[in-house]
Amino acid sequence: MSKVIKIFDTTLRDGEQSPGAAMSVEQKVQIARQLVRLRVDIIEAGFPISSESDFEAVKRISAELPYVTVAGLARALSGDIDRVAEAIKGRDNGRIHVFLATSDIHLKYKLKMERDEVLKAAVSAVKYARGYTSDVEFSAEDATRSDWDFLCKITEETIKAGATTVNIPDTVGYTVPEEYSELISYLFNKVPNIDKAVISVHCHNDLGLAVANSLSAVLKGAGQVECTINGIGERAGNAAMEEIVMALKTRPAFFNADTNIVTGEIYKTSRLVSKITGMTVQPNKAIVGDNAFAHESGVHQDGYLKERSTYEVLKPEDVGIPKSKLILGKLSGRHALKDRLLELGYALNDLELDKAFERFKMLSNQKRHIFDEDLEALVVEGTSRLYEVFCLTHLYTSGGTDKKPIALIKLTINGNEYEKECDGDGPVDAAYRAIGELTKTKSTLNKFEIKSITGGTDALGEVVVTLEEDGRVVRGSASDPNIIVASAKAYINALNKLEEKKINVKKGV
Ligand code: KIV
Ligand code: ZN
Repeated sequence: MSKVIKIFDTTLRDGEQSPGAAMSVEQKVQIARQLVRLRVDIIEAGFPISSESDFEAVKRISAELPYVTVAGLARALSGDIDRVAEAIKGRDNGRIHVFLATSDIHLKYKLKMERDEVLKAAVSAVKYARGYTSDVEFSAEDATRSDWDFLCKITEETIKAGATTVNIPDTVGYTVPEEYSELISYLFNKVPNIDKAVISVHCHNDLGLAVANSLSAVLKGAGQVECTINGIGERAGNAAMEEIVMALKTRPAFFNADTNIVTGEIYKTSRLVSKITGMTVQPNKAIVGDNAFAHESGVHQDGYLKERSTYEVLKPEDVGIPKSKLILGKLSGRHALKDRLLELGYALNDLELDKAFERFKMLSNQKRHIFDEDLEALVVEGTSRLYEVFCLTHLYTSGGTDKKPIALIKLTINGNEYEKECDGDGPVDAAYRAIGELTKTKSTLNKFEIKSITGGTDALGEVVVTLEEDGRVVRGSASDPNIIVASAKAYINALNKLEEKKINVKKGV
């Protein structure tokens, strides 16, 4: 019988550490609900001591989703552990995830601790966490650059102290599959009580090997894989969950392992995370990229049409990739919208549905055919920002082949309306200048991306912008049939995120 590998999803914690991918509590809850439908085993919902909103997210998800293990991250410090415990209070299946670095490089430069001090701190943190819950995970940060015997020692001692899972992270994406699998085997051979805990792996993608490394560890006995949807995460990201799950599913005889994941929910989840974080999925991304199942060359098309398996090892429907469907129109009612959103993975409460319906009606007056992708945009934007200093109330542009583009923008700023007219090299440039002057922003625009969500000249234009100010990076997104309006809204969305970050810094969270 094949072994069931636990999927520990850290999209909401490590994934959120991608520059610009900050999510509101509401958005995290939205993703967590979908992760439950996907049937992940553990959701790491945040790092509660790090910010008020991380605390709130762990607490909300913990309270709302009883049938999944919810984890919160903590350094090996009692204050951090207390904060996780408070966020998961009232749950039997709440996990405290304690981490402490074990590599000499981290000990010398970051922690300024000796190995025996680290060992003691890890053991006492695990014992302390066990005072709150029976589900405690210990992570030996930077394990792959640690001394292997020290790693064995700390694994053995933290298991003795009560850790039920011990994680061996490749924190900086440094290892390679042969070496990592050897390390996992080494631990299995040398740690006498290793069978008392689940050995977990957590691989970063700095060398593009996160998935390969994770799979190599599964072959040697790892029982849990930590990963994120679309592989988002710190720097080059984490191991992509969809790739791990589908590799195990596609090669059962080779891995003799599987997961509990409902693979038909993968695509939906990928879209949701991409929409919410504003991190677009590269077209050639395995499993969920736009081209993952596209056959371009004549030879491939011919083979594929004769027999699909000649050029496809997976089927799009296995991961829930739908044909883009024409679904609703001007006359569709609230009920039809609710049902279709549910099928797309969005379970809205009454208030959220009312707002979505209002936006749907507005959109159906602007656009004749409404596709699934339009609905996703409409819902995600509705739940995206709770914090709004700036709000676009009016936009007018003019220009042409021999007329300099002009934009008139009206914004409310903390409830008061202001207006500004500017010219520019193009209508977007003019609108951005006017918004820049009204908001007095000091941010720089690092990236501006625009694409059409569906086909047709009436398609929604989706704009994603990346702004930077004082080292803070945020990503804003918006969509609208009018691409100038979408551009202005995306800029304002990012500016609001920057304002929110500034407030959090002032509050010291
Ligand atoms: O990459 C890492 O080491 C981590 C730990 C906190 C598990 O994210
Ligand atoms: Zn990590």
